[in-house]
Parts: sequence; C-alpha cells; structure tokens
Amino acid sequence: MKIVVIGGSGLIGSKVVKNLRARGHDVIAASPKSGVDTITGEGLDEALKDARVVVDVANSPSFEDKAVLEFFETSGRNLFAAEKAAGVAHHVALSVVGTDRLAQSGYFRGKIAQEKLIRESGVPYTIVQATQFFEFLGAIAQACANEDTVHLSDAYIQPIASDDVANAVADCAVDAPMNGVVEIAGPEKSRLCDLMQRYFKATGDARNVIADESTLYFGAQLAADTLLPGAHAHLGAANFDAWFRQSQNHSPAAH
Ligand SMILES: NC(=O)c1ccc[n+]([C@@H]2O[C@H](COP(=O)([O-])OP(=O)(O)OC[C@H]3O[C@@H](n4cnc5c(N)ncnc54)[C@H](OP(=O)(O)O)[C@@H]3O)[C@@H](O)[C@H]2O)c1
Repeated sequence: MKIVVIGGSGLIGSKVVKNLRARGHDVIAASPKSGVDTITGEGLDEALKDARVVVDVANSPSFEDKAVLEFFETSGRNLFAAEKAAGVAHHVALSVVGTDRLAQSGYFRGKIAQEKLIRESGVPYTIVQATQFFEFLGAIAQACANEDTVHLSDAYIQPIASDDVANAVADCAVDAPMNGVVEIAGPEKSRLCDLMQRYFKATGDARNVIADESTLYFGAQLAADTLLPGAHAHLGAANFDAWFRQSQNHSPAAH
C-alpha cells in the first residue's frame, strides 16, 4: 500500500515511516526537507499520486498563537484538496488527548481547528489523540525558569513513549478508517510536578519542583484530569523508567 507520511522527518514521523516500511508498505516521508510543503502546496500533488493513506504528523514550526492556527488551517485545507484529487481513502492524524478541553490555549485552538477540518473534509479519517510524549519532558524542563525552584502544575499526566505512539499510528494507518477518535496513553499516571522532579533527578538537574495549581500549561488552566485519557484508551508498553533507560542507551553519550 502506498502511504504518505506528512511530517515524515519529525520525531514521530520518522518512526512511523520506519515502522510502516518494516511492515512492507511503500512509504513516502514528506516534509519541506524532502520538497513537500503543505503550506505552499509545493510537491504535494506528486507525493500523493496513487497514495491510499495519508498520515499527518506535521507540527507548526512556530508555537506563537496566530502562527499555529494559520499553520493547521492552511495545511489542512491544502492537504484535503490534494487528497480528494488523488482519491486518498484514509487520512490519519495525530492530535492530543484533551484537545477540546484546552481551548484557552493558542496552540490547542490550532489543534481544534485541525480536527474540525478533518471531520468536515469528507475524506474517511482516524484521529489518534496521544497524551504527552516522554520526550516532551526535556522541552518542558528547558522552558522552566532556570532557577533553584520551578513551579509546575499538579495536574495528572499519563505520558507515552514516542515508539509506542508511532506503533499505534502505524496500526491505525493500515486499519480501516474509524471516522472518529482513538486515544493512546502511557501505562502510568502521575502528577506533572512529581514526574518533572523525577526527570530532574534522573538527569542530574538540581532544580526543585514546587506544585502550583495556578501554573498554566501552554496558556491553559489545567484541572486534575484535563490531560488524562478516557477509560478506553490504548496503553503503550513503556513507563517512565523503561523509557528513560532506553533513551539513555540511544543518547550520543552512550556510544
Ligand atoms: N509533543 C507532545 O507531547 C505531543 C503529544 C500528542 C500529540 N502531539 C502531536 O504530534 C504531532 C507531531 O509532533 P512531533 O513532535 O513528532 O513533531 P516534530 O518532531 O516537531 O516534527 C514536525 C514535522 O512537521 C514537518 N513540517 C513542518 N512544516 C511543514 C510543512 N509546511 N509541510 C509539511 N511538513 C511540515 C517537519 O518537517 P521538516 O523537518 O522538513 O521541517 C517535521 O517533519 C504534532 O501534530 C503534535 O501536535 C504532540
């Protein structure tokens, strides 16, 4: 089956490409780096020729509110025009658990717009909503103030390893369209502040985390369960310890 992975050079995209190729599919890794741009439309029609499935795991290069919204709206419109012209039978997209509860956040208003375009596109689809990736802890750590103590929300989080995300997305790409949402998450939930303290300890970072329920997440106020999946979520295999061990084995320092 010919499958085009939009954002095929990214964290999740590169793993989805590898996973689907290992299953014997004809996979195109499409992104600006390989001459396919969903914003300008460059290379899109050629990439989608004879494609049966499109997997969209692209992300906005800028996280500024207006830029994110424009990215997902323009990218979605261009993609669906090209998918309809090519007769694509299944659109699979990666979104975030709780997206509809996070409209206070500019980033998530972009994801809400992306999901709306998918539902209204007329192309059969599956939306995979994932919880936060373990790999994302590094980005949160960098975004925190570089002071002795950092304040983080005490809301629950149930993060998932990017390998488990890629595997679930690849499963959906070869299955029939659900025309709905499937949720995926990691096997363990913990409070964001506690998990970040554990991450700091594991990485030798001396900072202390203070639980602070008023701290915003991407501009949104979190309730205890905002980022948690529902009861029917598919759970990935790796918990924090397994992911951290594996990430250390793959870090440049380990070689
Ligand atoms: N971070 C989390 O915890 C989390 C949780 C759940 C869901 N998600 C979702 O997961 C998705 C993928 O995230 P990621 O971390 O894997 O992303 P990433 O590593 O930042 O990769 C982004 C990808 O988007 C591509 N891209 C950027 N502009 C493009 C354009 N104009 N046309 C086509 N492709 C373009 C990039 O291509 P180039 O390399 O060529 O620039 C790159 O391949 C996002 O939609 C995000 O919302 C994230």
